[in-house]
Amino acid sequence: MSLITIIDFPVLGDGRGALVALEAHCQIPFDIKRVYYIYGTAQDVARGFHAHKALKQIAICLKGSCRFVMDDGKDKQEVILSTPDKGLLIDAMQWHEMYDFSEDCVLMVLADDYYNENDYIRDYNIFIELSKTHERF
Ligand code: TYD
Repeated sequence: MSLITIIDFPVLGDGRGALVALEAHCQIPFDIKRVYYIYGTAQDVARGFHAHKALKQIAICLKGSCRFVMDDGKDKQEVILSTPDKGLLIDAMQWHEMYDFSEDCVLMVLADDYYNENDYIRDYNIFIELSKTHERF
C-alpha cells in the first residue's frame, strides 16, 4: 500500500506566471480549519516525529524543498516535496518525519482541525501499538 498520496493542484498560468487556488472539498478533501507554515529551518534539523489520532493535513512546499518519511507502523516510504503545485496528504495515524529542509524552504500545512495537543502521538512505541488496531482503508 502506498503511504504517499500526492494531490496535483491545477495551475492557472499565463504570461504573468502561475496561480494555484485551493478550496475546501475541491482540491483539498476536507474543511480547512487551520493553516501553519514552517520556514527558516536550520540546517540538519529534522521535524515531525509524531502522528495524529484523527487530524488530516496536506503539506505543500511553497518554496525550496524538504523530504518526508511516512510510516504507518508497518512500512516507511519517502518523498521529496519541491513544487508548490503538489500537496502531500498526511493522514491520521501516519507517523511522519521531515528532513533535508533547503535553506529557502517554506512548508505550508493545511489542517482539518484546530491545534490540539491531545490528538498527537509523540511516542513511537505507542504509535506502533495503536497502529496495529488502525485500519486506514
Ligand atoms: P509540532 O507540531 O511539534 O512541530 P514539529 O512536529 O514540526 O516539530 O509543533 C511545534 C510547537 O508549535 C509545539 O509546541 C506546538 C506548537 N504548535 C501550535 O501551537 N499550533 C500549531 O498549529 C502547531 C502545528 C504547532
